[in-house]
Amino acid sequence: MPERRRILVTSGLPYANGPIHMGHLVEAVQTDIWCRMQRMRGHECYYICAEDAHGTPIMLRAEREGITPEDLIARLAAEHLEDYRAFRIHFDNFYTTHSSENRELVEGIYDRLRERGSIDRRTVRQFYDPEREMFLPDRFVKGTCPRCGAKDQNGDSCDECGSTYQPSDLIDPRSIVTGALPVERESEHLFLRLSDYRDLLKEWVGDGRLQSEVVNKLREWFDDGLRDWDISRDAPYFGFEIPDAPNKYFYVWVDAPIGYMASFRQFCDREGIAFDDFWGPGSDTELYHFIGKDILYFHCLFWPAMLHGGGYRTPSSVFVHGFLTVDGAKMSKSRGTFVMARTYLQHLDPEAFRYYIAAKFSDGLADIDINLEDFVLRVNSDLVGKVVNIASRCAGFLHRQAGGRLAAALDAPELAAEAASRAEEIAALYEGRDYNRALRRVIALADRANRYIDDRKPWELARDSERAAEVQAVCTTGIELFRQLIVYLKPVVPTIAARAENFLGIDPLVWDDVHTPLVDHKIRPFKPLITRVQPEQVAAMIAASGEGDVG
Ligand code: 2FM
Ligand code: ZN
Repeated sequence: MPERRRILVTSGLPYANGPIHMGHLVEAVQTDIWCRMQRMRGHECYYICAEDAHGTPIMLRAEREGITPEDLIARLAAEHLEDYRAFRIHFDNFYTTHSSENRELVEGIYDRLRERGSIDRRTVRQFYDPEREMFLPDRFVKGTCPRCGAKDQNGDSCDECGSTYQPSDLIDPRSIVTGALPVERESEHLFLRLSDYRDLLKEWVGDGRLQSEVVNKLREWFDDGLRDWDISRDAPYFGFEIPDAPNKYFYVWVDAPIGYMASFRQFCDREGIAFDDFWGPGSDTELYHFIGKDILYFHCLFWPAMLHGGGYRTPSSVFVHGFLTVDGAKMSKSRGTFVMARTYLQHLDPEAFRYYIAAKFSDGLADIDINLEDFVLRVNSDLVGKVVNIASRCAGFLHRQAGGRLAAALDAPELAAEAASRAEEIAALYEGRDYNRALRRVIALADRANRYIDDRKPWELARDSERAAEVQAVCTTGIELFRQLIVYLKPVVPTIAARAENFLGIDPLVWDDVHTPLVDHKIRPFKPLITRVQPEQVAAMIAASGEGDVG
């Protein structure tokens, strides 16, 4: 038995200002598959998440709705959790960044950074909305692009020509909060001096823990010079006030990753787990963050620096993925491809989504494309046609001829041995987040099992009453090969696996169970474990996601 690893895993915290959509789910599913696989392998693996509760957009939305930010967060956290659950995302804890645990951790880290002399103060000029009396984040100023003249562009970049600039460069700037003409104002801000952590970061980035594309990106940033990071925002702001800077708040990106720790702290307090085993300096446990490539800078530069400066361990790795596209293009409301979790659930089975995403996913930063036609074909062909079909082909004969009892020995033990011999290879592919190749191996085993049944033709054997024992042994082999496939697929399709376990009348499967054939055992009557995906269901989901139908 290999040693029992102790692993803490996180995925991106959803903001409390909008619904869960397919983009969130791609990441959560990929993380959940990884954690389920670790647990099935017998490791101690915790998946921690939380609501990302702070920042200007959440403050303004609560205001617009006439409720407190706390009420808004509670409502959205409940909705988010319900959506994640429907997709079988198993969090060991789901908390909020607006918590006393988080405040304590944030203040502690800030204190230590300050003691080390890594915090600077200096004056910045920023746009200010004189009507609403607030400083405006870049995204809250719009205007005409200074480069190409396109109207209605964001304060930091132009969607038309792709140029980036300062909000003050915009022609005709206006505040999107009130429409007022913003004015420039000065304010003192606090900065984390990132260059203090240059050596630490270089070593952390350089020692093989990160994907090569991530390392290349980070090297570019190193070469550009590590710029200080503005960690404060002026009131009004919804967040944690900075203890020695009244009316100034920690920028949401300070307390969001620390929210991983806070959620885990709440979990530890409840479960009696030693927090420091996972976060203490020199910890020998493993810590992984699954994130999208848009937030790499925060997780691979600021975050290790904050952790180290704050007296904690740094992450074992950060697993970065690309963006979700649908039929080769960015998700789009007008095309109906910006699909919310809720909308998907009204039309389709979450297991189908999980399977398809896994089948498309391999380690790397390339975008993950959902092709809607391929989605239907792939799920129907692999899951329904190849995997579940094995059980439905064999179960009937066993019930009609053997009272639902599996034979005492397999007809083709070498096939089961062959499938079992792939356990380490398939686990390693999951471990490396190469789910695409893992599933290709599994489906190749399913093809092999179907060929075996085609060759042995139990439907022909069954016509000869003297060959009942042979039919039973052949179908027992088929069921065993099916059971092994379910072990390998269980991280991806936990609901189908649970139904299969029920059909087989067995305890929840773990990885090592592939090595112990199920024989001389009574199974239940077969009921379909998944239904075919119909193209009409997909069309209905896209129609319902079209502009006007989503909030
Ligand atoms: O990009 C986002 O959606 C952020 N809410 C993710 C935060 S992840 C972590 F750092 F907290
Ligand atoms: Zn432009």
